[in-house]
Amino acid sequence: NISDIVSADRGDSWACASCHGGQGQGAGSVPRLAGLPAGYITKQLHDYADGRRLNDNMQHVVSSLSDEDMAALGAYYSRLEAPGDTQPQLGGNIERGRTLALEGDWAIDVPACFSCHGSSGWGVGQSFPSLAGQHSSYTYIQLANWNNGKRNNSPIQLMRDIAQKLSDSDMRSVADFMATL
Ligand code: HEM
Ligand code: HEM
Repeated sequence: NISDIVSADRGDSWACASCHGGQGQGAGSVPRLAGLPAGYITKQLHDYADGRRLNDNMQHVVSSLSDEDMAALGAYYSRLEAPGDTQPQLGGNIERGRTLALEGDWAIDVPACFSCHGSSGWGVGQSFPSLAGQHSSYTYIQLANWNNGKRNNSPIQLMRDIAQKLSDSDMRSVADFMATL
């Protein structure tokens, strides 16, 4: 039963809502799940289970989930509405972030983020998650995780190649820009 897994009402600290919030809104380094594509969410749960993403809490959580649970949880969170109340928190340069998102920077071989993540950053289909309205700390940590090997799961190392070309300040700027959307 999905509501037993999601809801923190029974005081289970491993319930999704105890970290991701009652509306799937997330906070800080815990991502918003609300409105992400179902297929994307389900894939991430499998990726934690298979060790393609390393995070102690999430790896513990997925160890007790079946394939059916993962599919149902993807469907559940994809239907919730994204709150869209995130704020930049990393002191990034919002204009630089906007440029990376809309145009990329060919001087450092980085394509426009929105060429894959949707023309306004709200995602495309089941494979490309929205970056708009995501918490800046979470977005920043993901880019860092591709660089430090904790995240190893994007097709043909696409995101790792991009993250390797971004400076720390570019990662902050693009993460902060996404949180303004
Ligand atoms: C990340 C789902 C429970 C903390 C994620 C992601 C998903 C997810 C899909 C990746 C999101 C993305 O790629 O945008 C769930 C579900 C849960 C659950 C369905 C319940 C069955 C928890 C709990 C905690 C937690 C209980 C805290 C103890 C986190 C953190 C991350 C994360 C910190 C980011 C990890 C990283 O940087 O890779 N979760 N979660 N989650 N979750 Fe959960
Ligand atoms: C995932 C950032 C450009 C394809 C992600 C995630 C972030 C991100 C933070 C993880 C989201 C989450 O965990 O919820 C960026 C930034 C970009 C950029 C800042 C520009 C500088 C691109 C481009 C492509 C792409 C150009 C396609 C050619 C993908 C794919 C995923 C992804 C397929 C999902 C990977 C998975 O299944 O885990 N991106 N991205 N991204 N990105 Fe990008």
